[in-house]
Amino acid sequence: MATGTQATGLLGWIDERFPLIETWKAHMSEYYAPKNFNAWYYFGVLAMLVLVIQIVSGIFLTMHYKPDAQLAFASVEYIMRDVPGGWFIRYLHSTGASAFFIVVYFHMFRGLMYGSYKGKRELVWLIGMVIYLALMAEAFMGYLLPWGQMSFWGAQVIINLFNTIPVIGNDLSLWIRGDFVISDPTLNRLFAFHVAAVPLILVALVFVHIVALHKVGSNNPDGIEIKALKNEKGIPLDGVPFHPYYTVHDIPAIAAFFFVFFGIIFFMPEVGGYFLEHANFEPANPLKTPEHIAPVWYFTPFYTILRSVTLSPFAGTVAMFGAIIMLFLLPWIDRNPIKSWRYRNTAHMFNIAIFAVVFIVLGYLGVKPVTDELKELGVRMTEIYFLFFAVLYAHSNSSKPGRYLIWFIVLAGIVFLIDFYRYNPEAVESAKQIKWQWIWPIGYLSVTLLLPFIVRPCNAEKPVPERVTS
Ligand code: HEM
Repeated sequence: MATGTQATGLLGWIDERFPLIETWKAHMSEYYAPKNFNAWYYFGVLAMLVLVIQIVSGIFLTMHYKPDAQLAFASVEYIMRDVPGGWFIRYLHSTGASAFFIVVYFHMFRGLMYGSYKGKRELVWLIGMVIYLALMAEAFMGYLLPWGQMSFWGAQVIINLFNTIPVIGNDLSLWIRGDFVISDPTLNRLFAFHVAAVPLILVALVFVHIVALHKVGSNNPDGIEIKALKNEKGIPLDGVPFHPYYTVHDIPAIAAFFFVFFGIIFFMPEVGGYFLEHANFEPANPLKTPEHIAPVWYFTPFYTILRSVTLSPFAGTVAMFGAIIMLFLLPWIDRNPIKSWRYRNTAHMFNIAIFAVVFIVLGYLGVKPVTDELKELGVRMTEIYFLFFAVLYAHSNSSKPGRYLIWFIVLAGIVFLIDFYRYNPEAVESAKQIKWQWIWPIGYLSVTLLLPFIVRPCNAEKPVPERVTS
């Protein structure tokens, strides 16, 4: 009989030497999760599932892939045509990449809706954001490996961004490439990072993400701290043990996910050129620029921001990275003590919903060839993207709606000032677009700031219940 635990046999033997049962209890069978989790809470576990799929399929791909500029493209074709089941492994991995971002975007949006970055969960959010950055780096590097036209030219565009940094830019991009152009050394180093360094970092980050979350406990759709109300045994009244309740509860979600995931793999693995771009079925050709270079869909919102800020190439790069940095700062921008949007004012709900739509429109614009009209729309969506954070800050304190008017005047003033600077009557078509498309940011500010100022019920916050509601 093992001491300190009920376990006997092999389990008892292990448990005397390793805190197995203790860990299981702390993180599974005695980890109390709020009982009102809804479908939005599936995406964390789905993200873990996709991480495993990517690692396992990646290991098998690496067995046949050749990280050599002369051989890489052909080795991928070999995997697709000659390796038994190779096509399946490759589609698992390519579909997994897009699925990862879909799942993570939903996961992040849930955080926005329910204010999951507040109440001592700032670190959970920050670690999540570092995961997001690592994921983008991982996807970017993986995309170079098939050495197709888009791999090559996409990498060219991204690595050239470093050129825009004053003083050190050229040396930095040379250092990253390991050559004056993207070539074999670039492919080799990106391969090393893609298969070894970044996956290790990702796994470590996910581990600390969960440890940090379990230290403070999960948030929920009501944004209530369930640890505040406990019974005499110290168990949260609104909590249920994660295992078996949520382990079982997650199974149908995993089944539904697999249904869609394998549907894509078996019936439409390219998803019309969005998951696997058509130009990437041609081998990389440094002498032939593709007609239309666009990154994969999950990068396009940021790509549009990069293209929309035309003040200078460096300003575009700063705006693009700034867009991501703003997300890091969310816990300190949104200072409203109410977490869930269920109990915030209607204007806040509009703000979050519009932000999601704007993000999708930015993504859509990134895959479209540039016209004057779409270019201007990109500028306007970029403006709203950044205005969102100012409005979020303004909504932090709803007790003085008079301030919304001041915020409206200041932010609308900034929008018009930028228009004034950009307006050039000689560029007829672009001037025409500027003259009507101001309606987007000003309309946005009207809905989120003027509306709660004029129609006071739109500013009313609801009382947060003491116990979870559903
Ligand atoms: C590989 C990627 C990721 C994995 C595997 C992952 C995994 C998880 C899991 C399993 C949970 C607990 C279950 C749940 O609440 O859904 C969780 C919670 C959370 N994650 Fe992630 N996550 C990832 C990326 C991110 C990113 C990119 C962010 C945002 C920047 C983020 C922010 C959060 C937050 C704020 C919570 C707490 C949510 C709450 O309690 O309401 N995660 N994550």
